[in-house]
Amino acid sequence: MIRNKKVAFIGAGAMAEAILSGLLEKNKILGQNITILNKSNKTRLNHLIERYGLAKNVDPVQQVRDAEIIIFAMKPIDVEKALRKWKDIIYSEQIIISVVAGIPTLTFERMLPGNNPVIRAMPNTSSAVGRSATAICPGKWANQRHLQIAEEIFAAIGIVVSVEEEMMDAVTGLSGSGPAYFYYMVEALEQAGIAAGLAPETARELTIQTILGAAHMLVETGKRPEQLREEVTSPGGTTMAGLEVLRDYRVNQAIMQAVLRAKQRSEEMGRVF
Ligand SMILES: NC(=O)c1ccc[n+]([C@@H]2O[C@H](COP(=O)([O-])OP(=O)(O)OC[C@H]3O[C@@H](n4cnc5c(N)ncnc54)[C@H](OP(=O)(O)O)[C@@H]3O)[C@@H](O)[C@H]2O)c1
Repeated sequence: MIRNKKVAFIGAGAMAEAILSGLLEKNKILGQNITILNKSNKTRLNHLIERYGLAKNVDPVQQVRDAEIIIFAMKPIDVEKALRKWKDIIYSEQIIISVVAGIPTLTFERMLPGNNPVIRAMPNTSSAVGRSATAICPGKWANQRHLQIAEEIFAAIGIVVSVEEEMMDAVTGLSGSGPAYFYYMVEALEQAGIAAGLAPETARELTIQTILGAAHMLVETGKRPEQLREEVTSPGGTTMAGLEVLRDYRVNQAIMQAVLRAKQRSEEMGRVF
């Protein structure tokens, strides 16, 4: 569906690079059909153009005008300025995709003069290695076809789910901030392994493979996490002894509160913008 479409990225940071490299690696789109622009960093822009074989020497206004899909990939604080700059160039048939954290589709709909289909996306940092958990939601003028196009784009950097926009703060609290929760857990497991007498590199290697193995078990067996947990927990065994300590410390409650607090923080930040 997107193979021959022209895509323009406004914003050339880490997220734009993750998406465009995913699209090119999966052969979803031709480099020549992708253009990219940023605010001022020419070195960065040239690096991306050369590295990924993107269209070069294109006038920025022409870039945006020619694109069928425009992806906004900048920090929330910069989005209003960018919209002011481009609003009279963008026309109503162009599909707008935003990865700008916390900015509602309504912001784009209000600032753009046409009835542009807007799709808001919340990828996570694992997009850098093609393993994002991305949620997308449609704005007022976006239909199923627009959602499918966005789905195809974000499938190039991981898995994609569609949600209603009111769920985006929950998504942010869970999968947006989620990688950091797992890093935190890995740090704690590593420290615990060292405290138990293992060499630091051995503790790290075992911890990373353990988290990776558990994730693969969930994906490949299709079993529920509680089932997998029960299968490895023999009565009176070592795993049960360890899990009892997690229960005593109410780790599940701590995780619940972490996600809810991150969701609430996302709501607070959304109100600022
Ligand atoms: N990175 C992630 O894993 C991740 C995950 C989820 C969501 N997000 C969201 O994705 C968005 C982009 O994140 P990022 O990590 O890619 O940010 P980033 O690396 O800081 O890049 C921001 C880019 O926006 C450009 N920019 C700023 N103002 C502009 C303007 N007026 N016109 C055109 N370009 C402009 C910057 O250009 P200059 O360099 O020239 O200033 C830069 O290329 C953010 O809203 C972030 O919250 C990111």
